[in-house]
Amino acid sequence: MPLITTKSQMNGNITFTMVKPVAVADGHSAAILAKIVEGGFKIKALKMMRLSKEQAETFYAVHKERSFYASLVTSMTDGPIVAAILEKENAVSVYREYIGATNPADAREGSIRKLYGKSIEANAVHGSDSDENAKIESSFFFSTMEVF
Ligand code: RTP
Ligand code: MG
Repeated sequence: MPLITTKSQMNGNITFTMVKPVAVADGHSAAILAKIVEGGFKIKALKMMRLSKEQAETFYAVHKERSFYASLVTSMTDGPIVAAILEKENAVSVYREYIGATNPADAREGSIRKLYGKSIEANAVHGSDSDENAKIESSFFFSTMEVF
């Protein structure tokens, strides 16, 4: 897959996010996207798709030794996701703060995970954890022609 080498990405101002299957199934995609835009993030790429088991395994390969891996992969393939590349200054850290803690029960009031997460697994959204992973994840989901 081609690497995305936009100026913004090289500056570390890009993050990758996914609305997870349960949140999509519950009809929260549009509200979550609106909340993202309201937070000052610019949408650079956007698509709805369903992950194969292999794609979900690859995406979460870092967790393959963890007890929750199989369950996480299953939950990520249960239905379609909405994937997006977002731009904002210091996007990775600012977005992780914006979405709230991994467990919605611990997430900040008003955060996306507090508003739309149901459990630690069905926690509404993914957010990249480093500039390097933001780039890898963006390239995993989008070709250069799909990024604006
Ligand atoms: P994400 O990668 O999805 O943005 O979430 P995160 O960085 O906040 O959390 P991470 O540690 O990377 O975990 C990835 C996803 O695995 C699920 N998880 N389940 N059952 C559990 O104890 C457990 N722990 C993590 C969550 O859905 C988490 O988002
Ligand atoms: Mg993570």
